Amino acid sequence: MSRGRFVVVEGGEGVGKSTQVRRLRTFLEAGGLPVVVTREPGGTAVGEGIREVLLHGRAGPVAPEAELLMILAARAALVREVVEPALAAGKWVLSDRFDLSSLAYQGYGRGIPADLVARLNEFATGGLAPDLCIVLDLPVEEGMARQALAGKSRDRFESQGRAFLGRVRRGYVELARSRADTVLLSARGSPGDVEARIRREVALAFPEAPGAAGPASRREDPPRPS
Ligand code: TYD
Repeated sequence: MSRGRFVVVEGGEGVGKSTQVRRLRTFLEAGGLPVVVTREPGGTAVGEGIREVLLHGRAGPVAPEAELLMILAARAALVREVVEPALAAGKWVLSDRFDLSSLAYQGYGRGIPADLVARLNEFATGGLAPDLCIVLDLPVEEGMARQALAGKSRDRFESQGRAFLGRVRRGYVELARSRADTVLLSARGSPGDVEARIRREVALAFPEAPGAAGPASRREDPPRPS
């Protein structure tokens, strides 16, 4: 059996990641592919406990170093308990956030040195990297307005303020440009518009995806002579 595909959706607050992960799941499943969906921090018993502590302020203020290590503990558990076994069983794994979130939020946002976050990420993931990472990009104000419109109560990260969220956004843009297998997509427009952009990237990256033209359409193939 061939190994599954690992697809991650990333982005700042209010860009619509969770909606897009749901839609992509439906699309892939309709094409007959087995899909496991997960989110970070979370996705395991340990991870959901950490999520509760971190996002809903049970622990009060948390030092950036402690915050990073908690998130990485959740990631380490998720990789070993959920992601790796699913990939080994030939399933597609769609994750709402992964290692790029730590580089953007704890690195650019909190100011922890990027090389340190990268090394710790490597340890937490055991070297597992997404096959495709999609970063949804939206100006901070538009993301905040979307969340206000949805009537979402703010968690600890969403309450960090404009400057923090601006650094996170800049981080995502820079990281997306510097990493292979990572694409930056505009999150503007309707959910259907964004979904169409995501489907296009998935079809380009994976010949077995619904809507892909098959092996000949792969990104790394040289252009055919005309
Ligand atoms: P989020 O994904 O926005 O969930 P929801 O859609 O339910 O609000 O919440 C997760 C928060 O955790 C988000 O504000 C960013 C933060 N986070 C980090 O700071 N670093 C990380 O590595 C991860 C995975 C998340």
